[in-house]
Amino acid sequence: MSRVAVFGAGYVGLVTAACFADLGHEVVIADILPERIAALRAGEVPIYEPGLGGLLEQNRERLSYTLEVAEAVDGAEFLYVAVGTPPTYSGDADLSAVWTVVDSLAGATDPAVVVMKSTVPVGTGVKVRHRLDARGLQHIGYASNPEFTAEGTAVRDFQQPDRIVIGAFADADADAVAALHVGIDAPIVRADVASAEMIKLAANAALMTRISFINEIANVCEATGADVVRVAEGVGLDRRIGPSFLRAGIGYGGSCFPKDSLALKQLAANSGYHFQLLNAVIEVNELQKRRVIGKLQQRLGSLRGRRIALLGLAFKPNTDDIREAPSLVLAGRLVAEGADVRAWDPVARIDDVHGVRQVETIDEALAEIDAAVLVTEWPALHEVDWRLAASKAKAEEPVFVDGRNMLDPKLMRESGWAYEAIGRAAQ
Ligand SMILES: NC(=O)c1ccc[n+]([C@@H]2O[C@H](COP(=O)([O-])OP(=O)(O)OC[C@H]3O[C@@H](n4cnc5c(N)ncnc54)[C@H](O)[C@@H]3O)[C@@H](O)[C@H]2O)c1
Repeated sequence: MSRVAVFGAGYVGLVTAACFADLGHEVVIADILPERIAALRAGEVPIYEPGLGGLLEQNRERLSYTLEVAEAVDGAEFLYVAVGTPPTYSGDADLSAVWTVVDSLAGATDPAVVVMKSTVPVGTGVKVRHRLDARGLQHIGYASNPEFTAEGTAVRDFQQPDRIVIGAFADADADAVAALHVGIDAPIVRADVASAEMIKLAANAALMTRISFINEIANVCEATGADVVRVAEGVGLDRRIGPSFLRAGIGYGGSCFPKDSLALKQLAANSGYHFQLLNAVIEVNELQKRRVIGKLQQRLGSLRGRRIALLGLAFKPNTDDIREAPSLVLAGRLVAEGADVRAWDPVARIDDVHGVRQVETIDEALAEIDAAVLVTEWPALHEVDWRLAASKAKAEEPVFVDGRNMLDPKLMRESGWAYEAIGRAAQ
């Protein structure tokens, strides 16, 4: 069994740490936020991720938490980097947290491998290698081991991945990282460091492309009377295409897709290439979020003074993450149009959008409304008595925009809602 240090106690770092501990490794997690480390030491999980709390608890004796780099590095054979890489104003990935970690290793005397879990631009590994070498840290290896887990299912995704990607400069380092994963049954893709970095960016870009593709198909369905749900089913059963990521909706969000698409676009542009397809994917996604406003205006005219419920705020169900969530754009646009916005989510908070009132229950959100927008497909929305909810609305026939095609159109219309979905005929 190995000793692993994980830098970054966020969505990726905590899941990585918990899963490695569950494989039997001894794991120390380092972060710079004292409150985060204190919470973890007290047995609290600072993020919402199903299964994570239980796994941390079960493996408590193999997990420790620290604010001290030296304590994390001491005796560690692997130095996992799982810090954030948010976008800068230019759209490039901000690697300052990565560099802080790399620079903090200056005193590391024992051999170890720095393993990059954070999503970074192609070329980062080479730069880290140079920086380590310049500091006389030739005994520290480097590997890229990008993460493909999705929030909400991250623990399962880590334990049962489609593949494990490992890129390293030295075969011995790649072998060591592969050995660390013994116990996980998945194909291992060995690549050079640049290709491993690109696999992560390309995989995200492929998923985003499918989302924007089906959303554009949905928009054409709306204009032509076809139903995108049936279309996606028929298209997805083609084995060459497959059914995943063919759900039309109000666009992708989250902490990864938007920033990683920008980072790849910038990476291409910085290398002299204009990535036309990716630019279109990004633009389609931006427009998709705003189409909801058009749908509401078509039904209600001006939105000034209209009370509108936003159902779901997280960028997807089973997470409290609202980074780049479509709800933020929607809430901002609705407030700008003068609407009175009531927002509900079981775990996510939207305190940042001025003028939005967050309520605790779905009932409160739906009281006395003119319209509701289903933004995140939380299972609790299946439990709502929609007929009763419609009877409590201000409008006689309240408008319902189902931004995720979650509910049954016929039932919703029979329940008294002027129901609209994405890419499905209005009646
Ligand atoms: N969130 C996901 O589902 C996901 C999936 C795949 C890849 N990724 C990538 O993984 C990386 C981490 O993402 P995340 O969502 O876990 O981020 P996050 O913001 O949830 O967590 C990052 C953590 O790193 C800590 N940190 C910052 N600087 C540090 C330092 N110098 N030393 C130690 N800790 C430090 C922060 O305090 C924070 O707790 C990003 O590059 C992201 O693109 C994320």
